[in-house]
Amino acid sequence: MDKIVIEGGTPLNGDITISGAKNSAIKLMAVCLLTDEPLELTNMPHLRDTRSMGGLLEHLGVKVETGPGSRMFLHAATLSSTEAPYDLVRKMRASFNVLGPLLAREHKARVSLPGGCAIGARPVDLHLKAMESLGATIELEDGYVVASAKGGLKGAEITFPFVSVGATEHAMMAASLAQGETVLYNAAREPEIIDLANCLNAMGAQIVGAGRSEVRINGVKKLSGTSYAVVPDRIEAGTYALAAATVGGKVRLVNVRSDHLGSLWPLIAQAGAKVTMDEASVLIERNPKTRLRPVDVETQAYPGFPTDLQAQFMAMCCLADGVSVIRENIFENRFMHCPELIRLGANIKVTGREAIVRGVKEFHGAPVMATDLRASASLIAAGLAAHGETSIGRVYHLDRGFEHIEVKLGNCGANIRRERE
Ligand code: EPZ
Repeated sequence: MDKIVIEGGTPLNGDITISGAKNSAIKLMAVCLLTDEPLELTNMPHLRDTRSMGGLLEHLGVKVETGPGSRMFLHAATLSSTEAPYDLVRKMRASFNVLGPLLAREHKARVSLPGGCAIGARPVDLHLKAMESLGATIELEDGYVVASAKGGLKGAEITFPFVSVGATEHAMMAASLAQGETVLYNAAREPEIIDLANCLNAMGAQIVGAGRSEVRINGVKKLSGTSYAVVPDRIEAGTYALAAATVGGKVRLVNVRSDHLGSLWPLIAQAGAKVTMDEASVLIERNPKTRLRPVDVETQAYPGFPTDLQAQFMAMCCLADGVSVIRENIFENRFMHCPELIRLGANIKVTGREAIVRGVKEFHGAPVMATDLRASASLIAAGLAAHGETSIGRVYHLDRGFEHIEVKLGNCGANIRRERE
């Protein structure tokens, strides 16, 4: 198992190119199941999660190839299975989203329930209700969802009781090949939803309103292949922006959609970093000799502040001159980075969904453990700011969603290396 070792205390200076968005890429890969023609994805990140999804798709009979640069070719000419087994789904929850495409194309699917995960219970009830609304019969059998739709899926009106990114995406994919019109109410509005709709529309789908609360999908008989570029990863960009603010220095983010992080920039500025933007890049500057200011934040569905940046934001607040209150509204158990940040010298008290962060002057290096993907990123930023050596274990969490993180940070002068444990 790998670990990351950081000798902290060096400001970050340099350019970081942002990769394609993990949370878009893995859903776009599942889209290949909706057509027998080839799908080419460009700006694909090389990640453990994209490899996991590739493995599942291959199991279903899809030809998966990576091309030069950041290209991936997916061809589901025929499918050899409609079953997603537990061993493949448990590795990555988002693989549950093959259920809808399989139902839409083959009218049947047997997909393992993903189970709980470290950041919360994360049920899939909204996904299943959406499939039932589209005419599927769902049964639960030995930990598997067994679904069928004799004669195919049928368009429907679906009102989500609360916003779910995965359920919105799932319904959009399945409804693209359903008979008639589907209307989604209270749909998620994340940029990844727009990315998915844009790709499906390029394949011949008829989706209007993605990125708004009401999405209309006119089902079509057939989707064709296309070539589509994955949107830049707003969470990766936000992570490096927050690392630059936490550690200090001058970092330019390249290949970034700054408009996808509208909730973050004013908060980073409030904390004391300078943010300058142009069309495709963002410059973050902070004098490491000055103290950060405290900032309160609460996570919300897009366009609110993303839960996927909460841990990284907290690492920054740990070094502020005052008290910050951080509230997690999306997941019920997403404060596992707190005990690890405390090991580095932070002063954090968690009560229910709120963390009170009393800023300290500095972090001190220590061995810590990554608990989930974004938590790992917060430990990296804290380690970069800390005095002395920090080693971060269970780096496989990090490899799920950050492409070449030690190389990108190393290019900005960070003293960071990967070691075999
Ligand atoms: C997506 O998860 C992302 N994952 C998450 O990123 C992200 O944190 C989350 O959206 C919120 O932005 C991917 O895109 C692969 P939800 P998703 O459905 O779709 C509850 C990361 O680190 N819920 O919007 O699973 C759920 O438990 C990951 O990259 C139900 O109760 O999130 C949560 O409390 C972590 N029933 C809330 O809704 C359901 O059927 C929002 O979840 C579905 C969800």
